Amino acid sequence: MSADERSPSRSLVLAITGASGAIYGTRTMAALLERGCHLEVVVSEYGRRLLRDELGDSASIDRLTDYLVLKYGSGVRNGTTTMYSNKDLGAKIASGSQGCEGMVVVPCSMKTLAGIAHGLSRNLVERAADVMLKERRPLIIVPRETPMSLPQLRNMVLCAEAGAMIMPAMPAFYQMPQTLDDLADFMAGKILSALGFAHELYPAWKG
Ligand SMILES: Cc1cc2nc3c(=O)[nH]c(=O)nc-3n(C[C@H](O)[C@H](O)[C@H](O)COP(=O)(O)O)c2cc1C
Repeated sequence: MSADERSPSRSLVLAITGASGAIYGTRTMAALLERGCHLEVVVSEYGRRLLRDELGDSASIDRLTDYLVLKYGSGVRNGTTTMYSNKDLGAKIASGSQGCEGMVVVPCSMKTLAGIAHGLSRNLVERAADVMLKERRPLIIVPRETPMSLPQLRNMVLCAEAGAMIMPAMPAFYQMPQTLDDLADFMAGKILSALGFAHELYPAWKG
């Protein structure tokens, strides 16, 4: 589907887990909210820790929207969020009857990757991802680890075989990034493109 062909108010699940690169999660969240999306947000326990460790206390989960507005501007308020506990397996997004059209796990830890790959559904992030796979809806997984073990590599293959898009947190350098924000913009832009959103988070490659 081409960019922005769908309705302006789109509903997606966004999960942030305990891999390094919390900024990829917050930048993606802000960019989707700026576009008027409704986000069902789940942040794992270690995702919460990484938000604070890497972005500071002002990015803690209870102040996350204010943090996004301060950093990315009032456009973030174009969208809406519902926050869930990762322990809440009775949440709406744990069911295939929920209306979200897709899900992004950004960043995705190797632990959550393993849980998704093996359909474990031990928590809400894993269950919501499982729902996306069984309902054949888009699931974008942004893993971050280096180096990777053979089980981790195999888990990415399992997820890809099940229909997920594996989008490693690997920003490019041909855009001449100057700041960490440039790197985060690149990854968020890749995610938005995969979801069919037009954006100018990084300059289009002109060859
Ligand atoms: C500071 C810090 C950085 C971490 N970075 C990574 C990482 O880049 N990739 C990864 O797979 N795990 C990383 N971990 C380990 C995960 O947080 C850990 O496996 C955790 O259990 C993941 O749980 P979750 O997937 O439920 O968030 C890191 C942990 C800490 C404390």
